[in-house]
Amino acid sequence: MNCEVAPSAFLMEGYLTIEEQKGLILRCKDLGSEPAGFYTPSMRTGAYMNIQMMCLGLHWNAKTYKYENVRTDFDELPVQPLPQHFKEISRRIAADVGMAIEPDICIVNFYTGAGKLGLHQDKDERPETLKKGIPVVSISLGDSCNFLFGGTARKDPVRTILLKSGDAFLFGGPSRMCFHGVSSIIAGSAPAELKVSGRYNLTFRQY
Ligand code: SIN
Ligand code: MN
Repeated sequence: MNCEVAPSAFLMEGYLTIEEQKGLILRCKDLGSEPAGFYTPSMRTGAYMNIQMMCLGLHWNAKTYKYENVRTDFDELPVQPLPQHFKEISRRIAADVGMAIEPDICIVNFYTGAGKLGLHQDKDERPETLKKGIPVVSISLGDSCNFLFGGTARKDPVRTILLKSGDAFLFGGPSRMCFHGVSSIIAGSAPAELKVSGRYNLTFRQY
């Protein structure tokens, strides 16, 4: 069921089957254990983020907030390519709500039970992409989380949305610059069949 939580921001509950979820988790684990796999980003302040991250297609530099081909803020390794199969899933999600994305980037975040992500905007993609409102497409796998979704100003009211394994969420159009974050992970809430602990989140972006 698709629910438009704000203009052009959609929650698509239960979008992926358990088999699709298993396949994506396996792929994330495989890619994540490659040399240019998961790592813990440190920010401009020097503090570490409360998540592990792996970028595909283009690397998001947590110090400069720019995209690059090589992980210059971490280990200088070239970023791994974005698998064709991943691209297709994100295109399909966008098309299902009448939107379009030509993804170049997937940022895969892994959250343990203590993981969280502060309120922020996704604004490091090309200005044309932001201006056109091309959506960010997000897929959640494993443990559920409390996802925060606000308005285009930091002070705007924020709602909490439960994102569960297999849910897709997308925000584009006038909601593309909405503040969002993850306040908590619900440890142990992943479907038993997935045999996973922690939460994977994939966000697809058009550079
Ligand atoms: C993000 O904002 O980049 C990730 C959001 C999420 O983990 O659901
Ligand atoms: Mn974000």
